[in-house]
Amino acid sequence: MTPLNVALFGLGYVGSVTAGCLARQGHHVIGVDTDPTKVDSVNRGIATVVEPELDAIIGAAVDTGSLFATTLVEQAIVDADVSLICVGTPSAANGGTDLTFLRRVVEDIGRALAGSSRPHTVVVRSTVPPGTVDEVVRPLLEHTSGRVVGEDLHVAMCPEFLREGSGVADFFEPPMLVIGAETAPAAVLRQLFGFLDCTVRVVEIRAAESVKYASNAFHALKVAFTNELSRLYRVLDVDARDVMEVFVQDRQLNVSTAYLRPGFAFGGSCLPKDVRSLLYLARMNSVTLPVLEGTLTSNEMLVRDVADRVVAAVDEAGGRNRVVALLGLSFKHMTDDLRESPNVALAEMLIGKGLDVRIHDPVVTMSKLSGANLRYVDAKLPHLRRVLHDQAAEALDGAHVALVSSTSSEVIDAVIAAAPPVVVDLAGTCPLLETLPGYEGVGW
Ligand SMILES: NC(=O)c1ccc[n+]([C@@H]2O[C@H](COP(=O)([O-])OP(=O)(O)OC[C@H]3O[C@@H](n4cnc5c(N)ncnc54)[C@H](O)[C@@H]3O)[C@@H](O)[C@H]2O)c1
Repeated sequence: MTPLNVALFGLGYVGSVTAGCLARQGHHVIGVDTDPTKVDSVNRGIATVVEPELDAIIGAAVDTGSLFATTLVEQAIVDADVSLICVGTPSAANGGTDLTFLRRVVEDIGRALAGSSRPHTVVVRSTVPPGTVDEVVRPLLEHTSGRVVGEDLHVAMCPEFLREGSGVADFFEPPMLVIGAETAPAAVLRQLFGFLDCTVRVVEIRAAESVKYASNAFHALKVAFTNELSRLYRVLDVDARDVMEVFVQDRQLNVSTAYLRPGFAFGGSCLPKDVRSLLYLARMNSVTLPVLEGTLTSNEMLVRDVADRVVAAVDEAGGRNRVVALLGLSFKHMTDDLRESPNVALAEMLIGKGLDVRIHDPVVTMSKLSGANLRYVDAKLPHLRRVLHDQAAEALDGAHVALVSSTSSEVIDAVIAAAPPVVVDLAGTCPLLETLPGYEGVGW
């Protein structure tokens, strides 16, 4: 590994762990902080935060000369190949992200780079909202340095996933290395973190910024979900520890990639019914379950959003062609179970909004519907007989919008042949659809 000269900004939790660990791996690190006591601490070989192993790592790195700290930005930048920004991005009073520290660092780096033609990559390691690197870092850096990003000066996003208390261990064994960058800066980051034995994912900068929020939001959701269920189970005399100990053993559905693919709303004969049942039990026992309540609200909101998008698309085109083809009606591909299908709810909503809805589902035929399934349709979608078509091409004939949730090849071929002006992909599993000019994803 060829060592890099690293200027690292912000010697707090993330910065001090990163500085110490990169220096231990042989890179030459100069840490910069506006707080002179933190700078002094590092130069005396003492970590600025309490983290297992960190004092020893920083002490050794300072002794060997691979780590040094300063308050002077120019001193850190003059020979640096890479700047790593690890400053705080705290909550503003309104809940937004305060980027004051980040802006100041970028301005400092830009001014220090002005007049130099030395190649340099500025990497944001702090957690920042999607768009920050492109809309804040890049222009500020160009303005203050007088250089153009993309010509020997690069920007990148590389989110940090370490947890306090196990920062060093997490640094050396991250779940993955996420690099949001173009090819050249991505190569620099691969070189910087080349010693890590983990999956490297190079993605769009905005995606890299967003992954960190998705991770933290999911962690928060998991804790809130578990504790919310525990509050209910406790009053039902169930030990939630036993429940969750068994729950996590299911690696196929519970702790797995299942249910984490962006797509359309959930439905069917179990999920809505059983969530409602838990909410009822909670109400009967004076327990409030806002997270679980939120799942139903959020699900309904998604159906409404799609209906609003369809109406907007029809209106934008002048409103004369109100034909909408809904391809796929059951709640899941290859089943004819229509109970609580979000597609039924969507059809009902669109018909209510005065659209000419034409439905096709390869496995749903009126003559085969029976029992609870038929009763559900009769109650929720009494017009189904009239609007159900045997062939996808019939439903698509002259349609302005196609809503595609079926993934059957018959349906996909028909959509591609008809190529309606607007195609909303509700499933997200068919790349062929994306070739259509009117393609848009439900959540992408
Ligand atoms: N703490 C964590 O476990 C963790 C984990 C992953 C990501 N993050 C993210 O990393 C970022 C840093 O978090 P942290 O907990 O290390 O913050 P922190 O508050 O511990 O450290 C930030 C440091 O930046 C310094 N600083 C502020 N302005 C500066 C400037 N202009 N120049 C140089 N230094 C400056 C501060 O003096 C401070 O030492 C945040 O965006 C955070 O969300 C934190």
